[in-house]
Amino acid sequence: MAASGRRAAGPLTASASSDVETVLVVDFGAQYAQLIARRVREARVYSEIVPHTITAAEVAERNPTGLILSGGPKSVHVEGAPRLDPAVYDTGVPVLGICYGAQLVASQLGGTVAPTGRGEFGRTGLDITEPGVLFDAALPAHQTVWMSHNDSITTAPEGFTVTARTADVPVAALENPDRNLYGVQFHPEVAHTPAGQEILERFLYEACGARPTWTMTSVIEQSVDSIRKQVGGDRVICGLSGGVDSAVAAALVHKAVGPQLTCVFVDTGLMREGEGDQVVDTFRRHQGIELIHVRAEDRFFERLAGVTDPEEKRLAIGELFIRVFEEAAGGISDARFLVQGTLYPDVIESGTSDAARIKSHHNVGGLPEDMDLELVEPLRDLFKDEVRRVGEELGLPDEIVWRQPFPGPGLAVRIVGEVTPERAAILRHADAIVREEIKKAGLEREIWQAFAVLADIRTVGVMGDERTYAYPIIVRAVTSEDAMTADWARLPHELLERLSNRIIGEVDGVNRVVYDITSKPPGTLEWE
Ligand code: XMP
Repeated sequence: MAASGRRAAGPLTASASSDVETVLVVDFGAQYAQLIARRVREARVYSEIVPHTITAAEVAERNPTGLILSGGPKSVHVEGAPRLDPAVYDTGVPVLGICYGAQLVASQLGGTVAPTGRGEFGRTGLDITEPGVLFDAALPAHQTVWMSHNDSITTAPEGFTVTARTADVPVAALENPDRNLYGVQFHPEVAHTPAGQEILERFLYEACGARPTWTMTSVIEQSVDSIRKQVGGDRVICGLSGGVDSAVAAALVHKAVGPQLTCVFVDTGLMREGEGDQVVDTFRRHQGIELIHVRAEDRFFERLAGVTDPEEKRLAIGELFIRVFEEAAGGISDARFLVQGTLYPDVIESGTSDAARIKSHHNVGGLPEDMDLELVEPLRDLFKDEVRRVGEELGLPDEIVWRQPFPGPGLAVRIVGEVTPERAAILRHADAIVREEIKKAGLEREIWQAFAVLADIRTVGVMGDERTYAYPIIVRAVTSEDAMTADWARLPHELLERLSNRIIGEVDGVNRVVYDITSKPPGTLEWE
């Protein structure tokens, strides 16, 4: 059955978003565009990222409340430097240029930008020379801001007022309130600019006249509305993985179309302790969602017998998962829609960046090419932290909403060597101890992921008067922003001691505990 070819609009994209006040963040290739979009949303104004090739006509059609031009890695003078269609400045839409964006505003409207040889990087003192629209009169005249630029604006275009300077840069902020055009050389979106959020909010509320109405409650309402419109009276299927994205997506769809939703949960036997029961409990009992719970442990262990190569393991699990899912979903012959927990960063990065490619090979919950179901993607416009807030608002338990990332192939990627029911049981038990102790120590939200790995070796030990020959457990705990890079967590020694004592004392078949002190790179988070 099913193919995910036809992509349906999420609740807030294109057509639907025309009803929602939207600020467009024009991406000039900066690492900060996503951060700017998130900061705007923190001010409760909906924002989307658009490419810098957007034309004035497209801007007019989208009718945004405001435009923010992001920073960029280039100098405006470099051949091929990205520019903005200059007609955009005449659309009447308020514009805020940040860093490269500010230089673009200045240079495209007749000011000058030059390589002065006095770039600024990092924390910099800013003197506000005129309060203006962006700087509240109550803001102290001296501020610390975050800078990252080589070129500088040397003269502002006609009609603009210079509102701030630094020791090295004469035009650190400029504005033309009559035309509703603004620029700041510094980065208001980063935490190192303490008044940054306030300055962004002045642009949003004062310059754009935006209202702070974009809340998680409004997201849920709009999303429910658009799911109902899309789905009509048809049946919808959702695969639950135990992770936060599929859980929140399912809860939203259920809120929208109730009994038209059937969830399928494939228990691979490779979940963490208590996880399978919790999924069933939360969805079937608490949310009252119709749930097909497929117990496929035996099939997975049978398929994995003798498989030790990590890639072969992943492939085997992925293929079997799809087969089992299809068998279950195939019984729902009237289904027309399939829910997927795609997030906004996946949408932004899809197909273009390495991140997206890496993710797709990670996505063992992925479904076959030839499925003929239309996708419902209610989280397409949300960042991960927003998904968690929606989940909380929908009443999902903390254990699901704040769950740490867990790979699709489950514990199999944390069992080095053959995956057998016995070895999975050892790892599951040790892993439960790691998670319990991390939680007790109050470190659960600080630590990106903390888990146990089962090695494929045995070593000699002595317990009581007896010699043992058993497996070591490796404890892995990392801090990270996005899993692309990570550092090993500096866990307190007392916590490491407790982990070691408990794992060796409570888990049969383990006589040694080691702590992984490898960052990423060069290591990966998982051991595979
Ligand atoms: P690595 O080991 O590549 O992991 O440093 C980076 C992040 O990805 C997670 N991961 C997966 N997530 N399906 C997923 O959804 C997978 O197959 C998968 N493999 C790794 C890993 O837990 C870490 O957060």
